[in-house]
Amino acid sequence: MRTHIRDTILKIAPSILSADFTKLGEQISLAEKGGADWIHIDVMDGKFVPNISMGQPIVKSVRKATKLPLDTHLMIVEPDRYLESFKDAGTDRLTVHVEACVHLHRTVEQIKKLGMKAGVALNPATPAEALEEILEYADLILVMTVNPGFGGQKFIKSMLPKITEISEMIEEAGSEALIEVDGGVDETNAQALAAAGANVFVAGNSIFSKKNIPSAVRELRKAVL
Ligand code: DX5
Ligand code: ZN
Repeated sequence: MRTHIRDTILKIAPSILSADFTKLGEQISLAEKGGADWIHIDVMDGKFVPNISMGQPIVKSVRKATKLPLDTHLMIVEPDRYLESFKDAGTDRLTVHVEACVHLHRTVEQIKKLGMKAGVALNPATPAEALEEILEYADLILVMTVNPGFGGQKFIKSMLPKITEISEMIEEAGSEALIEVDGGVDETNAQALAAAGANVFVAGNSIFSKKNIPSAVRELRKAVL
């Protein structure tokens, strides 16, 4: 039975990785017009993942373009070096990878101490059990449904039972952590993801590659309802 408050939470978080950077402010406004709840910002360092994307200056600019919560996903090694600077740039929610943190508990506590919501992300090959000791401290669990590093990749279907497992772990722990899914999310798999227990739907390609961005956001929401 789904009895937690988090079961009623469904949020759409467009990922600007797939946006047209020459008109980023405009594209964010269009996503907002379609009812986007959060703006997802993917930070890549070319080390933790094979690609390099954006950093604090972009977060700072996006902060000026919208009042929506900024959900920053750090795909970088040694994230502790940058927690404060992402807060200063305007991040509301900061997510770090289990695989990138030597002292994950310390990192999560530091994010919260800085006044942000703390997220913990898992790569596809990392089992749900890796969350056991951190679950009660995290505000959000991000389940990667592609290998991180690039937008527009194909959703890995075998992540669905992992989401169900994490959802059960969260309930058992009496935690209210949200489950965010990221990678290849679109209107064809959103319903199954929601049924497995996902609350936050990150979508890059399935929103920003569409001609009509507001309608793409609306379509995705319709798919999860
Ligand atoms: C992947 C990033 C994702 C990415 C999702 O490394 O973490 O947030 O932007 O993009 P799509 O929805 O295109 O798979
Ligand atoms: Zn992401």
